[in-house]
Amino acid sequence: MTTHHTYRKLIFLIFTGTVLLLYNCTTNTIDEGDITDLPPIEETVTYDDDVLPIITNNCIFCHSGPNANAGLDLSTYANVRGAAEQGNLVNRINNGSNPMPPTGILPPETRQIIDQWIVDGYLEN
Ligand code: HEC
Repeated sequence: MTTHHTYRKLIFLIFTGTVLLLYNCTTNTIDEGDITDLPPIEETVTYDDDVLPIITNNCIFCHSGPNANAGLDLSTYANVRGAAEQGNLVNRINNGSNPMPPTGILPPETRQIIDQWIVDGYLEN
């Protein structure tokens, strides 16, 4: 009787564990759906006017200088552009479960500016 009960408990734990794992995997995928809901940005987006303030306010603290986190220095136009072209930057700022900055995902309006900057061709100014 007791063994039977333990067995069922185990099955239950494996089942819920699997469900939670699958759920975590799906939320881990990049979701920019909240951005698509926003009205499109009509003005041209540039690094100096629009992107630099976002990086300065949210990323530079950890991503600059010789001890930059993950070896990722975002203190120049070329480096930010490189990270955006490579894809990691966009992936991480839109990653709901593992976002950059780590303190919490940025508002969709802010992430939309980065997307538009890329669409506009990484203009510097
Ligand atoms: C509080 C510190 C902190 C802030 C602020 C921060 N990051 Fe990070 N970032 C890290 C750490 C630590 C890692 C390495 C661990 C990881 O990947 O989660 C990392 C990793 C990354 C990576 C992955 C690099 C790689 O090669 O795998 C990217 C891209 C990134 N950050 C971009 C950003 C951007 C863009 C911002 C601002 C919007 C930002 N981070 C803000 C600490 C920070």
